[in-house]
Amino acid sequence: MDNESQNSPSTPDEQVQSVEKSKKSKKKSKNKKSSSQEIAKTSEVQSQNNEINQEQTEINEAGFPMSTNPTDMLKTLKALNLNDVMKIGKDAGSTKVYKFWNTQPVPQMLEEEEKVDETEMHQAIDSDKQISEIKQDPYSLPEGFIWDTLDLNNEVTLKELYTLLNENYVEDDDAMFRFDYQPDFLRWALQPPHWRKEWHAGVRVTKSGRLIAFISAIPATIRIYDKPLKVVEINFLCVHKKLRSKRLAPVLIREITRRVNLTGIFQAVYTAGVVLPKPVTTCRYWHRSINPRKLIEVNFSCLARNMTMQRTIKLYKLPDQPKTPGFRQMTEKDVPAAFKLLIDYLKNYQLVPDFMEDEFRHWFMPKKDIVECFIVENDGKITDMVSYYALPSTVMHHPVHRQIKAAYSFYNIATKTPLNDLMHDALVSAKNLQFDVFNALDLMENQKFLQELKFGIGDGNLQYYLYNWRCPQMKPANVGLILL
Ligand SMILES: CC(C)(COP(=O)(O)OP(=O)(O)OC[C@H]1O[C@@H](n2cnc3c(N)ncnc32)[C@H](O)[C@@H]1OP(=O)(O)O)[C@@H](O)C(=O)NCCC(=O)NCCS
Repeated sequence: MDNESQNSPSTPDEQVQSVEKSKKSKKKSKNKKSSSQEIAKTSEVQSQNNEINQEQTEINEAGFPMSTNPTDMLKTLKALNLNDVMKIGKDAGSTKVYKFWNTQPVPQMLEEEEKVDETEMHQAIDSDKQISEIKQDPYSLPEGFIWDTLDLNNEVTLKELYTLLNENYVEDDDAMFRFDYQPDFLRWALQPPHWRKEWHAGVRVTKSGRLIAFISAIPATIRIYDKPLKVVEINFLCVHKKLRSKRLAPVLIREITRRVNLTGIFQAVYTAGVVLPKPVTTCRYWHRSINPRKLIEVNFSCLARNMTMQRTIKLYKLPDQPKTPGFRQMTEKDVPAAFKLLIDYLKNYQLVPDFMEDEFRHWFMPKKDIVECFIVENDGKITDMVSYYALPSTVMHHPVHRQIKAAYSFYNIATKTPLNDLMHDALVSAKNLQFDVFNALDLMENQKFLQELKFGIGDGNLQYYLYNWRCPQMKPANVGLILL
């Protein structure tokens, strides 16, 4: 096992306690702005451990995401006529050696699709195991740490998870914003129909009981090309900042895999900003300003050249009312019709969830500050649906603003209303709910409305991965799956 966390001079408790003090001095190493200066800085911070240092250099030298190429960016900006490229982002790669991922049943980085034997495509990489063949006891953790399955129905435990993520989860590359998944959102995300408590795996410091790491799985059925598969969606992998680069993440990943395998499931789907072996597709976030003044004040976006604040505010101004007759929030009685609309629509894509009606209800019935879903009803018929979830980000160092309220596009189906009108109305509803920004990936049909509705391209990719499954890579426009 990866009990490689030997480079720490202090006890687990001391390490975690000192994190607040060191917060400002340590620049995040997950870094896609690969200027040589930053590579040097990263290496300095990491210099206690040569091996980790070596890996870090490999990560930083791994390459640039597309949008940091000035020519590409310029092209996109010209097309948009907007200069406010916004941030959210993660990193790209890669020719590096993946010490952990190279041991896992995932397609390897250098594997060429055309050379893969046909009989190995659309197949598991490792065949299913008998339950008796699966390791029965948990993977061992470094001394001083214990596993703890979290009971998220316990408010105190839920708050502990919230705090771990609020202080240590995904940040943008400049360490200005960090996802701030709210407690009720976490419960919604982690307790869909058929959820399992043992798939909410925490790690605590033995002595203090402090929660310092987490990983989760939720059950799902998905379809990949024409293969339906029972899988888990892996999410919320997090290690406390003070315990990074100690090979704890591989232990978490192996342990959740073991717990999932024990239930007879051998495939998983997950997304990440980092490049690992091997993305099945690469998507890009786009951002539509709703409250441009605030976004500019917190440096989420910047004032375009030749633009004043007043003109920018005017540019992004939205009306108070939706323009589509019959546009309204989805209610319980709409569920069967809206569910059918979604199921039919997802047939067009190559990677999709295969929801049952109870799952649809869980994921789409509107819940304040968690998920919104609107439908268009005319003459008693539901023809269109639009949905988004609420995921604020903490603004890390700003004297006035503490949080950005962001809406994330979920599943949108336009069968009668033009898609652009439908998304326009989604923006109107998001404005009325006081969101500051509306984010969307370039998957499904989203590319059709992004530019016209004044979205600006983000600076980070979102990579989609399948665990223990080999299939051809696909274009974002063929992806019909959104993970939270
Ligand atoms: C992601 C995180 C848990 C990794 O922990 P770490 O302490 O940085 O890394 P460790 O030393 O424990 O493990 C390194 C291994 O984990 C892999 N890894 C890093 N991030 C990963 C991710 N998001 N998903 C899967 N594997 C990841 C690395 O590639 C490396 O494996 P390799 O040797 O095969 O390349 C940690 O950086 C973190 O909590 N980050 C903030 C939250 C976050 O980004 N979560 C992931 C959301 S997708």
